[in-house]
Amino acid sequence: MQIYLDHGATTPTRPEVIDLVADVMRSHWGNPSSLHWWGERSTMVIERSRLQVASLINADSEGVIFTSGGTESDNMVMMGVARQYPTPQHMIISAVEHSAVRLPAKFLEDRGWDITYLEVDRQGLVNPRDLERLIRQNTVLVSIIMAQNEVGTIQPIEKLGQICRNANVLFHTDAVQAIGKIKIDVQSLPVDMLSISAHKFYGTQGIGALYLNPLTTQRKSLAPLTLGGSQERGYRSGTQAVAAIAGLGLAAELAEQELEAESSRLTKLRDRLYGLLADIPDLIPTGATGETRLPNHLSFYHKNMDGRNFVRAMNLAGIAISSGSACSSGAIEPSPILLKMGYSEFEAKNSIRLTLGKSNYEEDIEWTARVMHQILCP
Ligand SMILES: Cc1ncc(COP(=O)(O)O)c(C=O)c1O
Repeated sequence: MQIYLDHGATTPTRPEVIDLVADVMRSHWGNPSSLHWWGERSTMVIERSRLQVASLINADSEGVIFTSGGTESDNMVMMGVARQYPTPQHMIISAVEHSAVRLPAKFLEDRGWDITYLEVDRQGLVNPRDLERLIRQNTVLVSIIMAQNEVGTIQPIEKLGQICRNANVLFHTDAVQAIGKIKIDVQSLPVDMLSISAHKFYGTQGIGALYLNPLTTQRKSLAPLTLGGSQERGYRSGTQAVAAIAGLGLAAELAEQELEAESSRLTKLRDRLYGLLADIPDLIPTGATGETRLPNHLSFYHKNMDGRNFVRAMNLAGIAISSGSACSSGAIEPSPILLKMGYSEFEAKNSIRLTLGKSNYEEDIEWTARVMHQILCP
C-alpha cells in the first residue's frame, strides 16, 4: 500500500488537467502574440484561464498575471516593488515567510534596504498590533504569508491588509498553500498582490499567477523583472506557456467547485488522524489548531526521534511525508520557521509535516496511524 501525504510539496496533476494540457499542446500551439488565426486561438485559451483563475479568488480577470509559479510571483513582488525606488526604503515581512519571499528580502537587506521581520507566537501567528506599530513613513511593502507551508498556520490577512490600506502601504500575501483549501475573496480582502501556484492544487508544475489589485496597477507600484515582448500587460515578458495556463485555469475552476466539500472532508480526516496519533508518547503537534490551521495540514516533532530518519522509515513503509529540516553541506539545519516560533534547535530539527489531499480516504488515515504507532512505539 502506498500513501501520499505530502500534498504541501506538490499534488498529482488531475487527469482532466492532463487531458486538457495534451489537447491544447496538440491543437493550440500558436504564439498568442501572433495576429493570425493560430495566435488568436491561443489567446482565447489564455483569456479563458484568466477568467477561471480570477473567479477562484473573486477578482477581475484584468488583475491576473501568469507567471511560472509561486517563487516567481513572490520574487516579482519583492524585487519589482524595490525596483521602483532609486534608494533603499523599508519593507516588513513576517518571520515565517517561505524562502521565495525571505531570500529576496535578504538580498535587498544586503543592498541597504531596511527589512523588519514581524515576530510570531508559538502557533506561528503574527499580531496585527505589532504591524501597526512597525509601519514607518518609508515603508513601501508588507508581505505576510496567508498559510504557512510547514505548520499550516493561517494569518489574519483581512486585519493585516486593512492596517496596510489605512497606512497607504502596499500589501502582498503568498497564498500558494491556501489556494483551493480556504475561500479567498479579494473583493472583501484588502490585498494588493497575491501569489498563486498551480501545482499545489492539482495543476501542473511550473505555472502560476500573481494577482494585482487595480489600484496597484494604476499607481504603477511594480516594475517588471523580465523585459521583452511586453506580454501579460508588460508585467511579465515572455511567450506564455499556453498549455500549462489552460491546465491552471481548469484546476482553478474545479478547485472552486469542490472547495467547500473538499475542505470539510479534509478537515474531518485531519482531525481523525490527530485523534489517532494523540496517544503516541512524545509526539508533539506544532502550529495552530482549528480555524487558524489549513484543513489538510498536520505537523509534529518527536522528542526522541530524528525527523529525517522518521521520514525515511515512513517512506520504507510506503508513506510519503516531509521533514522541516534541510541538509546543507552535510549538516542538518533546523527549520528556521520552528525556530522563529520559539521551538528549540532540537525540536526544529525533528519537525515533520503530513499534508492530505484528494487521493486520501479514511483507510489511508487508519493505516498511517498504525504505521506511526509501529515506528514510534515499537
Ligand atoms: C508558501 C509557498 N510559497 C511559495 C512556494 C513556491 O512555489 P513554486 O513551487 O510554485 O515556485 C511554495 C512551494 O512550496 C510555498 O509553499
